[in-house]
Amino acid sequence: MRIDIITVVPGLLDGPFAHSILKRAEDKGLASVRVHNLRDYSNNKKKQVDDYAFGGGAGMVMMIEPIAHIIEALKSEREYDEVIYLTPDGETFNQNMANELSLKGNMIMLCGHYKGVDERVRQRFITKEISIGDFVLSGGELAAAVLTDAIIRLIPGVLNDETSALTDSFQDGLLAPPVYTRPAVYDGMEVPELLLSGHQAKIDEWRFEQSVRRTKERRPDLMEGKDF
Ligand code: ADE
Repeated sequence: MRIDIITVVPGLLDGPFAHSILKRAEDKGLASVRVHNLRDYSNNKKKQVDDYAFGGGAGMVMMIEPIAHIIEALKSEREYDEVIYLTPDGETFNQNMANELSLKGNMIMLCGHYKGVDERVRQRFITKEISIGDFVLSGGELAAAVLTDAIIRLIPGVLNDETSALTDSFQDGLLAPPVYTRPAVYDGMEVPELLLSGHQAKIDEWRFEQSVRRTKERRPDLMEGKDF
């Protein structure tokens, strides 16, 4: 899988991709992420990528030409399964979408800025519009980092413990159970005795019950359609 991210502030993505799980995926050759500065694709001397909105109003709009230029250049080099636009008015991201996207080949992610992109970009190039929640970020970069992390960690071989992504919160539609590590007693607070018993079947049952309880308490909406 290769993810190409198009942005006007490439520096915003240096940190997340240098240190996280994504670095490990790159090192293992399982996925690669490339960040492109949209300004490099501007055809004007001032490297302009935005302009005033037709019809007036505050805020600038990202122009279609530089975006068309880079998307067409990328598409001439390889096939892409999706061209995703990160925007607060997109479909809200969740684990199911992460699972689906982790099965794709190459993807382009376009980060919006200012008042957003010229509507014709969406009509011509975008195959999916995704939001990471009902709040407005300064741009799509952090959202692209969130998607990339959630997707790439699901690719087999990226995580050391193969089963670990499958037992995440949400993976079976339930929140994860509580976890503990040493010491077994901290300032009078004891780890549930069963977890120290070595009785794996009982431990698995306890964890499942705890998941159900936690989900009922914190996210009753996730329990709809479940009969336990
Ligand atoms: N750009 C600005 N806000 C966003 C959000 N909530 N999700 C995705 N992209 C965004």
